[in-house]
Amino acid sequence: MTASFPADLHCPRIATREGGPELSRIVAGMWRMNEWGMSVEERIAFIERCIELGVTSFDHADIYGDYGVEGVFGETLRAQPALRDRMQLVSKCGIKLISQKRPQHGIQHYDTTAAHIIASCEESLRQLGTDHLDLLLIHRPDPLMDFDEIAEAFTRLQQAGKVRHVGVSNFTRHQFECLNRRVPLATNQVEFSPVYTAPMFDETFDGMQDLRIAPMVWSPLGGGRLFTSNDARALEVRRVIQEIADSLQQPFGSVLFAWIMQLPSRPIPLTGSGRFEAIREAVAGTRIQLERGDWFRILRAARGHEVA
Ligand SMILES: NC(=O)c1ccc[n+]([C@@H]2O[C@H](COP(=O)([O-])OP(=O)(O)OC[C@H]3O[C@@H](n4cnc5c(N)ncnc54)[C@H](OP(=O)(O)O)[C@@H]3O)[C@@H](O)[C@H]2O)c1
Repeated sequence: MTASFPADLHCPRIATREGGPELSRIVAGMWRMNEWGMSVEERIAFIERCIELGVTSFDHADIYGDYGVEGVFGETLRAQPALRDRMQLVSKCGIKLISQKRPQHGIQHYDTTAAHIIASCEESLRQLGTDHLDLLLIHRPDPLMDFDEIAEAFTRLQQAGKVRHVGVSNFTRHQFECLNRRVPLATNQVEFSPVYTAPMFDETFDGMQDLRIAPMVWSPLGGGRLFTSNDARALEVRRVIQEIADSLQQPFGSVLFAWIMQLPSRPIPLTGSGRFEAIREAVAGTRIQLERGDWFRILRAARGHEVA
């Protein structure tokens, strides 16, 4: 279905915490960017359309596209430098992949030493062609991480003006709170969707709500599984969301993003698509308030059972 959107559709903004970064309520995820097969001109046009719609925050990681996406995005910014001041750049560090581009990596592993965090951030700045990141995240919790050392590295990067805000990704509530006691964290970026509901039940979202810090949410469509999987649970979620979408005369994606954003911890969803239509559907979700009964119908489909 090609949805018609209100002419004044515009993405609102959200501060992740008091004194934290202001991001667009929907953030554009760039993980898959190199799969979209866009020319520089097409990338400029895509980014400009996002920004005009109010989707001004772009999510990266050093490793995306086999260490290639930041460079391609940077090439786009070099071709249209005025875009940089109109956007917020998020990136991540801490995973070391096996890659021809990193022949020194003998095993896939994590590295959250201060030396690696700082070197990785500086490389992200070079690739993106910018002098600062708006937000830098530790990509995954590292069994060898030293909270004091990470906090010190973050603080040094902030003092040098290379990073405005810092945060983490895929941390448990306890890990988040340990590091947040040492340096104020802007967010915890975690996986969440109707096909992966753990953060709602393992205290991740409760802990963030308690601290009044908004989490970010990756793979809100289960990485596309919500559409492609023939798993009975995914089929039922699809059926229920479609039924609600039809009754509200809204696109499927808008209802799904609304379901996520309705959580009181104020999750900030990332899109993963290179189709502008999909970004617009997500933004349209910022205008939908689901009835409590409809919200629980989606939860019931997601979990396969009624609440007790
Ligand atoms: N922190 C972390 O550890 C972590 C991990 C993974 C991702 N992320 C971030 O989160 C962002 C979003 O993750 P994601 O890409 O997995 O998000 P997602 O929205 O769950 O999945 C996007 C995928 O779903 C497909 N899709 C969308 N609508 C569809 C439809 N109607 N029918 C079939 N397929 C459809 C997209 O294809 P089309 O392009 O064709 O729409 C795309 O391949 C990433 O870009 C990245 O920035 C972070």
